[in-house]
Amino acid sequence: MDKINVGLCGLGTVGTGVVRVLNDHKERIIHKLGCEVEITKILVNDLEKERDMIINRSWLTDNPDELVEDENIDIIVEVMGGVKGTKELLEKALKNKKHIVTANKDLMALNGRELLQLARENHCDILFDASIAGGIPIVRTLVDGLASDHIEKVMGIVNGTTNFIMTKMTDEGLPFDDVLKEAQRLGFAEADPTSDIEGLDAARKMTLLANLAFKMEVNLDDVEVKGITSITQDDIAFAHSLGYTIKLIGIASMHDQKVEVMVEPTLLPKDHPLANVKNEFNAVYVYGDAVGETMFYGPGAGSLPTATAVVSDLMEVIRNIRLGISGNAYQEPQFKRQIKVPEE
Ligand code: NDP
Ligand code: HSE
Repeated sequence: MDKINVGLCGLGTVGTGVVRVLNDHKERIIHKLGCEVEITKILVNDLEKERDMIINRSWLTDNPDELVEDENIDIIVEVMGGVKGTKELLEKALKNKKHIVTANKDLMALNGRELLQLARENHCDILFDASIAGGIPIVRTLVDGLASDHIEKVMGIVNGTTNFIMTKMTDEGLPFDDVLKEAQRLGFAEADPTSDIEGLDAARKMTLLANLAFKMEVNLDDVEVKGITSITQDDIAFAHSLGYTIKLIGIASMHDQKVEVMVEPTLLPKDHPLANVKNEFNAVYVYGDAVGETMFYGPGAGSLPTATAVVSDLMEVIRNIRLGISGNAYQEPQFKRQIKVPEE
């Protein structure tokens, strides 16, 4: 039987999940693909670190070249995070004709267009569904499921950490700092959780969603961002007394060929569908000209949900290799950047 070799960059929350999903669902994956998928090298920071997961220690390396220059590795799965060094690693991998699956929204929001261009030039795939809304297959939905429609609006809860914090502050009256620590312990938060609580992580995801939904160049700088750090228990109680709940909401909409993207704490009536999305769960509402209203709900962070998205992308990359259609997953943006400037 054929075997596809994978180099895994990162063995933290998501990386261990990827190893687990590949092991636990091995038979299903072989059945669907007709080939085996094997991780042959794993890039980590600290070779001496104690790991919960039993893995072959000889797979571990702290030298990225051992993955990107290994002729036997077909696909790089990048779940280590970071921007500058990670971009260089992925560029080198693409130039060496390796396909990529990544969960890295920071990198994709800042340098996604360049990387996708490089991937097309090298007839390689770079898939990133896990980078937005964890286990919800929202990239696939926008690129394939709703491909025939004209999307007018994408809106939702796209950061699990802040939704976890707002839920616990609202429903259990717990203090912000304690809940943030719990979100970090559970592996939902970013290495630097400032990007979660200040809304930047959600802004990166909304940038990617706006690019995909409207097929237009939208940059991270175009997003108006406000996080949840200034929200107090008093704000939550006051909103509650008026029949509202506060959620960090991202909105991307297109009017008259102009796009507007923002992330901000928003008052929602308690019976609004997004008001009832709790804990680390995410939900993305998409309005299309023909389809009308659709909504996608699921775990937005965490080891196995995110790993499911990573491994599903990995399987798509393998199918594309076998069909000889790699490098065609995302087209260049159809429209140049046209951002609506907010009125003073
Ligand atoms: P973790 O911090 O849990 O794990 C990071 C892993 O990458 C560790 O194994 C670390 O090595 C390794 N690593 C980090 N930097 C380097 C480097 N420069 N060189 C070599 N190895 C490195 O992160 P997560 O698993 O939580 O997140 C990984 C990525 O997935 C991020 O881009 C994140 O934004 C994204 N993501 C995370 C989600 C989540 O729920 N956690 C959900 C969706 C996306 P070592 O083990 O030695 O420290
Ligand atoms: N820190 C992110 C979140 C991880 O809380 O949503 C998933 O992208």
